[in-house]
Amino acid sequence: MSLLIIGGTGTLGRQIAKRALDEGYQVKCLVRNLRRGNFLRDWGAELVYGDLTLPATIPPSLKGVRVVIDASTVRPTDDYNAQKCDWRGKLALLEASKLAGIKSFVFFSFLNAEQNTDVPLLDLKVKFIEKLKQSNINSKVFECSGFFQGLIEQYAIPILDSQTVWLVEKIVPTAYIDTQDAAKVVLNSLAVVERDKTTKTVPLLGPTSWTPEQIIQLCERLSGKKSKISYIPLFVLSSLRTILRSLQFTWNIADRLQFSELLRQNGSILNSTSIFTKDELSTLEQYLQEYFSKILKKLKETNYQQSQKKDISFL
Ligand SMILES: NC(=O)c1ccc[n+]([C@@H]2O[C@H](COP(=O)([O-])OP(=O)(O)OC[C@H]3O[C@@H](n4cnc5c(N)ncnc54)[C@H](OP(=O)(O)O)[C@@H]3O)[C@@H](O)[C@H]2O)c1
Repeated sequence: MSLLIIGGTGTLGRQIAKRALDEGYQVKCLVRNLRRGNFLRDWGAELVYGDLTLPATIPPSLKGVRVVIDASTVRPTDDYNAQKCDWRGKLALLEASKLAGIKSFVFFSFLNAEQNTDVPLLDLKVKFIEKLKQSNINSKVFECSGFFQGLIEQYAIPILDSQTVWLVEKIVPTAYIDTQDAAKVVLNSLAVVERDKTTKTVPLLGPTSWTPEQIIQLCERLSGKKSKISYIPLFVLSSLRTILRSLQFTWNIADRLQFSELLRQNGSILNSTSIFTKDELSTLEQYLQEYFSKILKKLKETNYQQSQKKDISFL
């Protein structure tokens, strides 16, 4: 079966591409920067240049494709807002998919997005899912709440670097998932998506929910380092978001800040459960343990090499 993956250079998309190649699928990746996608080519994927914000670049990528897996989204660093990529770009992709006779379409949204449409990106996701339902293409929407991989930059690195970890008070626990597990689930679902004529929405969550404080405690235990935590008052966050939204080039950052407020307020995330059995998924303890043991081993080796160099220069 031939797949087109959009967002193959991203956190989730790359794991979907890797798993699909390992399982023997023919994989094409639409990338807007061919050099950035080189690792996907090395893994065995075909790269096609394309950019969702340039609709004319989309149709050629769909040639010979049966299933579209769209794991793309605007980057906080992009100089346009989510409307351009996550709405107009996605609509262009859907129209081109209909014309190309695509059989199935896989899409990713946020858990409880429909209850939080005041966040612009979530509003666009909800509207796009409506369009997907009307499209007559078999489709599946996975609702995620966060990935293990995102926690490295947010918690593990600042703790290792003795930097301050900034938190918002009273964030509800979140069921982060390893993107490798998420990729496994997505690919396992393809046969069902092919048969199912309706658009199905399913949560894509990890085995346990975690608060930021619990994640920090875990990082401290595994790294042997003490963290420095500072809390950002909610009113500061809201004011910062308002200022950032007034400047067009920081709209995407403003959207991300609004997620933090949403996580704080939205208690329903706590009550959502995954449809996958816990023992099928890796745990955050396992994931972080592996990360810290690799990184601490590397640090030890580097320190050893540096001390050797010092000894030699002293002699
Ligand atoms: N991360 C989370 O915690 C989270 C939570 C819930 C839902 N989701 C959803 O899950 C999906 C995957 O998220 P992620 O965190 O893996 O995303 P990510 O790491 O931010 O990657 C975004 C991907 O989209 C690509 N992209 C951005 N603009 C594009 C454009 N104009 N044309 C073509 N490709 C474009 C990027 O390409 P470049 O490499 O060229 O920038 C990159 O491959 C998204 O739909 C996201 O909304 C994520």
